[in-house]
Amino acid sequence: MQTRDNAPALYVGLISGTSMDGIDAALVQFGNHQCEVLATLAAPYPDELRDRLISAAQTPAECTVDRVGHLDQWVGECFRDAAIALLEQQGVAADAINAIGSHGQTLRHQPRAARPFTLQIGDANIIAAGTGITTVADFRRRDLALGGEGAPLTPAFHQWFFADRDKNRAVLNIGGIANVTLLLPESATVAGFDTGPGNTLLDAWCRESRNEPYDEGGAWAASGTVLQPLLNEMLADPYFKLPPPKSTGFEYFNSAWIKERLAAFGKDVAAPQDLQATLAELSARTITLSILEHAPTIEQVLVCGGGVHNQDLIQRLQSCLPGTSVQSTGDFGLHPDWVEAAAFAWLAKRRIEGKPGNLPEVTGATRATVLGAIFSGVA
Ligand SMILES: Nc1ncnc2c1ncn2[C@@H]1O[C@H](COP(=O)(O)OP(=O)(O)O)[C@@H](O)[C@H]1O
Ligand SMILES: [Mg+2]
Repeated sequence: MQTRDNAPALYVGLISGTSMDGIDAALVQFGNHQCEVLATLAAPYPDELRDRLISAAQTPAECTVDRVGHLDQWVGECFRDAAIALLEQQGVAADAINAIGSHGQTLRHQPRAARPFTLQIGDANIIAAGTGITTVADFRRRDLALGGEGAPLTPAFHQWFFADRDKNRAVLNIGGIANVTLLLPESATVAGFDTGPGNTLLDAWCRESRNEPYDEGGAWAASGTVLQPLLNEMLADPYFKLPPPKSTGFEYFNSAWIKERLAAFGKDVAAPQDLQATLAELSARTITLSILEHAPTIEQVLVCGGGVHNQDLIQRLQSCLPGTSVQSTGDFGLHPDWVEAAAFAWLAKRRIEGKPGNLPEVTGATRATVLGAIFSGVA
């Protein structure tokens, strides 16, 4: 294991986001102010686990302590197996790895409850014991303990990797929820927040209407027509007007949210693809309006997350930002599918080095703090 400052160091980042599509695992090498993703693995959840996670997140009243415990253990095993498979695939020994950073799976995120909390499952004891590698997990709750949202946590990494001295850049992650990081050279601080739905509503309607996990390439949305009055009804949701710091989750923007908006709209949607088009336009509008409100001089939007593969959504984003280049983070040195996993590898490195991981101006915490609990890899 490398221990000298600035010597190359190997970390593994593991995350499953709000889409609950499965685990992204990345083997990341860090050098002096740079990092390189050496190997990656996407480990989809078994269908039954995914269905149970979605149902637990969508209907919390039915989610008993026993069910949470069961899922915590099952997800922990999946994360452990993803880490082991990644290292085996690459022929890298466990003792070559400095640490694993495991985000886990968010089951519930309630930063604005009377007693704010956020819950990521996937027992890190199972990961540390099964791999023999020190594992950093539970990244969000220290920030909450300091009055923050506990999210988003990737902006510090986005700043470290993507900030440019001359360009006004936004890094846009389109996962289930979309979040932006605004990197403006003339500003002393970084802004970052969840803009609202990324893919989550698109996926929910696709599952419900077509029994498919997502709208491949956004082709279905592209075949529909945006229903402007319904879009206006959706845009009126108070979340979009909240000032940052703000973060949200799957338990808010989900199929129940779509049904409530349809009920408020008061009319049936005759063609399901028109609803898909309207939801895609909603994601594009809320993302771009947020960017323009806080960074009207934005020059480049660097996109990562699964939404980058949705050409229809990317076209809608570009249409809303005519003077701005909308490009994949891949054009800037980091493949869009692995930015989040690399971020949690980086956050693990920060924790091991005793350095802060949050940006208080992003999360609203009273101060910068180390993030994550350390689960020793040795018995
Ligand atoms: N080829 C594709 N076409 C359209 N959408 C896609 C495609 N690939 C991935 N996605 C979308 O990206 C989502 C997964 O993105 P991801 O970044 O993993 O989100 P999360 O971090 O919330 O898990 C999928 O649920 C789907 O909506
Ligand atoms: Mg995912």
